[in-house]
Amino acid sequence: MRYSVDAGARHYYAIFFFCVFAIGRVSHADETQHPPAVAESLADAFRGRLKIGAAVEPAQLTEADGSLLVRQFNSVVAENAMKPADIHPREDTYNFAPADTIVDFAQRHHMAIRGHTLLWHKRTPDWFWIGKDGQPASRELVLERLRQHINTVVGRYKGKVYAWDVVNEVIDASQQNCLRNDKWMQVVGPEYISAAFRDAHAADPFARLFINDYSTHEPAKRDCLVRVIKGLLADGVPIQGVGHQMHISIYWPSVSSIDSSLTAFAQLGLENQITELDMSLYQHKDYRPATSLQQRLTFQGQRYGAVMALFLAHREVTAVTWWGVADDHTWLNVGNDVPGDDQPLLFDRSQQPKPAYWETLRGRPL
Ligand code: XIL
Repeated sequence: MRYSVDAGARHYYAIFFFCVFAIGRVSHADETQHPPAVAESLADAFRGRLKIGAAVEPAQLTEADGSLLVRQFNSVVAENAMKPADIHPREDTYNFAPADTIVDFAQRHHMAIRGHTLLWHKRTPDWFWIGKDGQPASRELVLERLRQHINTVVGRYKGKVYAWDVVNEVIDASQQNCLRNDKWMQVVGPEYISAAFRDAHAADPFARLFINDYSTHEPAKRDCLVRVIKGLLADGVPIQGVGHQMHISIYWPSVSSIDSSLTAFAQLGLENQITELDMSLYQHKDYRPATSLQQRLTFQGQRYGAVMALFLAHREVTAVTWWGVADDHTWLNVGNDVPGDDQPLLFDRSQQPKPAYWETLRGRPL
């Protein structure tokens, strides 16, 4: 009897020492393995706190970016496929296939979907402005077409797209009324914005509706956006959040200016989402690098760490979406006036994690 108790005790001692040894090995491995061989999932790291998204074109889904997307992200947005001129090229023709491809992929992989965008001056198809007789379309006809467009697109993805960028880039701080002086203003007047939000809400009452814009850290732009949103809220327009594109650089803007902007909208009781994040290695339109690539990539990592820490400190920030999956596909490298070698995202051109990835991950909630 005594013998068997001793044997049991020895047995437990053996298990105890084995566990101490094993835990020691694991924690030792954690300390020294930076970066680990296999990247942790960003989506998992921020689950329950932030949705982690990326913009995609349908063709990327079957390529290397597609598998990286599934491993690292839990939200998607169409880089172009849902824009009005892309999804609705003629009044009687919808081109749903590219957007459907992205939505089906996201659903198969249990990812959230943002919708971008229902109205944008740059991608409003010309047919919107031309009447049946070839004359300029009337205000009423344009508003009716907007209603039809929004009803059809939002209706099609009802219950699938959880948030819409209802209007994109409507603010212009150099205008007295803060609104861009585009066709929408000229033909409809400022009410096109409230009309778009009401139409979207009617088509899907559960979708969260955003006003999306760039350079929202600039005080004049931010103040204009606040003014326009206050007007919408006073009129009872259904708007839940502000989308901050966040096309930034390793050189600008200051983190504190982003902080002030997020705070301004939080104080209005709105949700903030970062909708198109990328961080250029260049100054704005100045492509002479001041330091080595290595230094800029390191600095990019530090800046990503700093902005992520800021987003996490803002409870009303609910999602961060990058404008691309990896550096092999970014809009910043398209065009004749750019060098084409910018690397603004978290993963390099071979889908490998960059310093930007590790620093973004570092701020994850424990
Ligand atoms: C860009 C796409 O990335 C490009 O492929 C396209 O040629 C032009 O539009 N702000 C926005 C996005 O709201 O829709 C833009 O996307 C980038 C700037």
